[in-house]
Amino acid sequence: MAEWQKSDWRAKPRVQMPDYTDQDALNAVEAKLASYPPLVFAGEARSLKAKLAAASRGEAFLLQGGDCAEAFNQFSADHIRDTFKVMLQMAMVLTFGAKVPVVKVGRMAGQFAKPRSAPTETVDGVELPSYRGDIINELDFTSASRIPDPAKMLQAYTQAAATLNLLRAFSTGGYADVRQIHGWTLGFTESEKAAKFRDMANRISDALDFMQAAGIDSENEHDLHTVDFYTSHESLLLEYEEALTRVDSTSGKWLAGSGHMLWIGDRTRQPDGAHVEFLSGVQNPIGLKCGPTTTAEDLKVLLEKLNPENEAGRLTLIARFGAGTVGDHLPRLIKTVQEEGANVVWSCDPMHGNTIKSATGYKTRPFDSVLREVQEFFAVHKAEGTIPGGVHFEMTGQDVTECTGGVRDVTEEDLSDRYHTACDPRLNASQSLELAFLVAEELSSLRDSAPAAKAS
Ligand code: PEP
Ligand code: CO
Repeated sequence: MAEWQKSDWRAKPRVQMPDYTDQDALNAVEAKLASYPPLVFAGEARSLKAKLAAASRGEAFLLQGGDCAEAFNQFSADHIRDTFKVMLQMAMVLTFGAKVPVVKVGRMAGQFAKPRSAPTETVDGVELPSYRGDIINELDFTSASRIPDPAKMLQAYTQAAATLNLLRAFSTGGYADVRQIHGWTLGFTESEKAAKFRDMANRISDALDFMQAAGIDSENEHDLHTVDFYTSHESLLLEYEEALTRVDSTSGKWLAGSGHMLWIGDRTRQPDGAHVEFLSGVQNPIGLKCGPTTTAEDLKVLLEKLNPENEAGRLTLIARFGAGTVGDHLPRLIKTVQEEGANVVWSCDPMHGNTIKSATGYKTRPFDSVLREVQEFFAVHKAEGTIPGGVHFEMTGQDVTECTGGVRDVTEEDLSDRYHTACDPRLNASQSLELAFLVAEELSSLRDSAPAAKAS
């Protein structure tokens, strides 16, 4: 078999990618991007892979989250900081529940291209091509805005580079103040749930007090002062991905340089398609969304194509079925993975199977459905004796009103107040934290019910 080349995807059927009209402009952008530095390095991708390998064995837990679509007009230090901060808060709560390290991966610094359910959109009788993310075209509903423009890839690269730069600075600059934990639960109302969260916050606080009394505090402990934070996005726009793909001089293997972890969406996972072909050849850890239409036969082929050496940490299966249907699909996919003896991380995306239209016309997700899907995911893994290795959320650190529900109840009428997403509805900071407490409960009850390890 001929050696894999980063352009091999071009010979495969592609879906969900734009048809650029100006070929010369496209070629020029690709050449320019190919001359720019990659955003991530192979050693980082390898260290993330090792952490995900631990998650596949239940020795770590993956927290992946961020915007549905990053947007050029919402690019600011505050936005990046707030999402980073909420993810660290969630990670602290999850660590407490899971008693294992939490692997933090942002849907950040590259999450610009969007697959769409329909190629066009009609408003008041006018039909235009769909918006496909800021790296491709514009959200404004005019025919000029919807023309795919390759130059947008350069702006996306710049935004990704600046985002990553700030994330790296936050990660090592002692930004995460774990002593603020009480402030995190202040906004929760006096419900039974809030009392449980406060109790957990008290216990985390006690543990921190104890550490400080014992002379271990974040001021002098390097490991408490810095975090490893990784980036990820859907590898959808393959011209952009190919241009940033390089050979890593240490291993001689290809690395997609656009982000640490890349995933294949539910609409682009055709076993013989361009997206699978591209990701099969790069060494990054990768994700594969698995939805209700994922068949056992396809999954078998995909496991072999995407992880032929069955390397632990290489492949994360991100289940996204919808509340009430996890039991119909997850067991059969778990069975396939077991039959193949495949090493995977099982992660739960409780967002994409739970999108509905509110009576007021907004795309939303009820918090209860999100929560229920997570609970079903844990219940199935418990019944099957397999390991729930992570979660994948669309969330933001901002106080948006995009998903309904949560302890600080967002109603359908509230949606119009602060609905800012460029694509799917995200959990706001308070809903994200609430979900983290609930996942932590699931994780600690799993630990409590796990049979004690056999003495050897
Ligand atoms: C997404 O993660 O934003 C997405 C489009 O998901 P999926 O491919 O699972 O629908
Ligand atoms: Co989305």
